[in-house]
Amino acid sequence: MKLYLDTANIDEIREATQWGVISGVTTNPSLAAKEDEDFNTILSSICDLVDGPISAEVLSLEYEGMVKEGRALAAVHKNVVVKIPIIPEGMRAVKTLSSEGIRVNVTLIFSANQALLAARAGAAFVSPFIGRLDDIGHTGVNLVRDIVDIIDLHDLDCEVIAASIRHTEHVPAVALAGAHIATMPFKVLKQMFKHPLTDLGIENFLNDWKKAEKSLS
Ligand code: E4P
Repeated sequence: MKLYLDTANIDEIREATQWGVISGVTTNPSLAAKEDEDFNTILSSICDLVDGPISAEVLSLEYEGMVKEGRALAAVHKNVVVKIPIIPEGMRAVKTLSSEGIRVNVTLIFSANQALLAARAGAAFVSPFIGRLDDIGHTGVNLVRDIVDIIDLHDLDCEVIAASIRHTEHVPAVALAGAHIATMPFKVLKQMFKHPLTDLGIENFLNDWKKAEKSLS
């Protein structure tokens, strides 16, 4: 399972790329709205930092607008993936854009049926939102497992991005469910490094080394 960052913040992306663990980035209008710069500038900077798929979402809700926006986003860089919500007009746009060689990530997926529709329309990625399902009392990871099973069983050419990841426990859960990618906030990615026994182990190793150095001198 690949790890993507779910952010439009350049500082976060820059820091995470230095760790060598990031294969792509996803953004959405809410994340972009938190940043000061205009979105095309942000998108271009992200593409300079990360050599992998970078999802950028359209704002239009009708076919012509989505296709126009999608083409403009894709023109920013070859790695841009156009993000489109799972609505009927959106699937028309997926068909058109994917036939032009533009990859699409279909977003706001909350059911296996929605994922099947998106994959059949030609989406390169589908993004089930697991945290938002958990919020309403469902188990989001089960949806990821169902979608991966359907894609495998029917040999569909589409990758599953487990999205709306809220905490570190979601990450191994979606990996075991077969997600191809997990996209997560910077905070969650950073927390993945953490274990108290790692901190204690480092402290003990350094203390033992210092003691040994002392006794040799
Ligand atoms: C995915 O592509 C979305 O940007 C994101 O994961 C949504 O997460 P949220 O439910 O925490 O807003």
